[in-house]
Amino acid sequence: MILIIDFGSQYNQLIARRVREFHVYCQIDPPDIDIDHIKHLNPKGIILSGGPSSIYEKNSPKCDESIFNLGIPVLGICYGMQFMIHTLGGTVKRAQKREYGFAELNVKEQKGLFKGVDQKTKSWMSHGDSTEKLPRGFRITASTKNTKIAATVHGKKNLYGLQFHPEVHHTARGKTMLRNFLFDVCGCKRTWTMKSFAKDSIAQIKQTIENKKVILIHKAVGKNLTCIFVDNGLLRKDEAEKLKKRLKQHLEINIRFVSAKSKFLNALFKVTDPEKKRKIIGKVFMDVFEAEARKIKGADFLAQGTLYPDIIESQSAFGGPTSVIKSHHNVGGLPKNMKLKLVEPLKHLFKDEVRVLGKELGLDETLIWRQPFPGPGLAIRIIGEITKKRLSILRNVDDILLDEIRNVGYYKKLWQSFAVLLPIKSVGVMGDSRTYENIVAIRAVTSKDAMTADWAKLPHKFLGNISNRIINEVVGVNRVVYDISSKPPSTIEWE
Ligand code: XMP
Repeated sequence: MILIIDFGSQYNQLIARRVREFHVYCQIDPPDIDIDHIKHLNPKGIILSGGPSSIYEKNSPKCDESIFNLGIPVLGICYGMQFMIHTLGGTVKRAQKREYGFAELNVKEQKGLFKGVDQKTKSWMSHGDSTEKLPRGFRITASTKNTKIAATVHGKKNLYGLQFHPEVHHTARGKTMLRNFLFDVCGCKRTWTMKSFAKDSIAQIKQTIENKKVILIHKAVGKNLTCIFVDNGLLRKDEAEKLKKRLKQHLEINIRFVSAKSKFLNALFKVTDPEKKRKIIGKVFMDVFEAEARKIKGADFLAQGTLYPDIIESQSAFGGPTSVIKSHHNVGGLPKNMKLKLVEPLKHLFKDEVRVLGKELGLDETLIWRQPFPGPGLAIRIIGEITKKRLSILRNVDDILLDEIRNVGYYKKLWQSFAVLLPIKSVGVMGDSRTYENIVAIRAVTSKDAMTADWAKLPHKFLGNISNRIINEVVGVNRVVYDISSKPPSTIEWE
């Protein structure tokens, strides 16, 4: 495995993705990770990420300095390199010229990380500080016009520093550099596949759970699994029914369906704040869920589909969720006195890896390729108050949208496509009369893992057809708009 120490860079997950694309397992941990824990993990290599801080700031993140004496190769990227240089006795200073964007890299040694890389190659820079003087034993391996020490190495100790970001695709040969680090420097092997993951996980779950009952994970525990499906009244049109049918058809699992629509709607009465909506829904969900779970004799474990981004986002580089943008209730949102023990077999996987795993386990395509749908459901797609009437309008709009998207074969290509009901009305004209009705927004995005997303460039004619159908078929809507914002700076959902 490769250990990535998170100094707060926006590109951290990209580093992890790149490593995994080479079929090498990696894990991101905060800088305060204990040195004994690192020894126990026994990584083949350590990557120190970039970060927004300056090494001289009082609270800049730091990890245990003895990582440089473990005999494990270390690659410091941007702030990670500066931390290494500063710690080992070099000098890092505010650069005369900030460097942001493309910079031509002049490679001095076409070996080590630069094996197979052209002498002149494009790199992606994003830094205000740079290295002025190297510690003993280090030498310069590449420079740019503004940054003399753009790359460095301590050959004997296998310590590497890159001032630019090899993990972003703008660095033309970034992947080659990371590959050289993983295989030539660290001696990693390509053993991380979803096939091996499935095998190991099933064995692990079996061992953890033994014969006790659990609320998920059929393959490992078979009949000991009971699924609880809570209909919170915030689902899409006929979704509960359709899902019930599909799950029964494709998986022979034991599912209990609980209808709790009015509980949720009553709790959400007149609530408009997005975070309040999420908290209320999370709490009512757990109440309903726990009451149902109590009815199952001997249920000791709760399985959750927590994914890796949920974990990474809730453990910031500065030791706490300082940059929580939206509260995702899988992590940290469970009641403190919950008796069930957690099993989270997917918590180290990204969504696209989960899809490969699903395929490996033989799941049906329609289940694997369902677009993500947020836990709080339509409640966070109805901006403002949630009422039965507004839910019904949004359901009908969403149904038309998805129908059209599926018909033209876009469903699988888009990360998500959905409608949002706005809290304002606008004037229209229908059959010679004035109307004053709702506006809906269409959101369609492409993405690999929801961390960044681009608005989908759907053809105008197609959008026009959707708008026509919605306004003609859904009473109460007289205007449709298309959301053309990417993430960042927007988010995928509107709330
Ligand atoms: P944002 O809106 O933050 O969404 O760009 C990223 C991904 O997360 C989903 N999402 C949620 N999922 N509970 C969930 O289970 C939530 O509260 C929540 N908010 C957003 C969103 O649909 C997208 O796929």
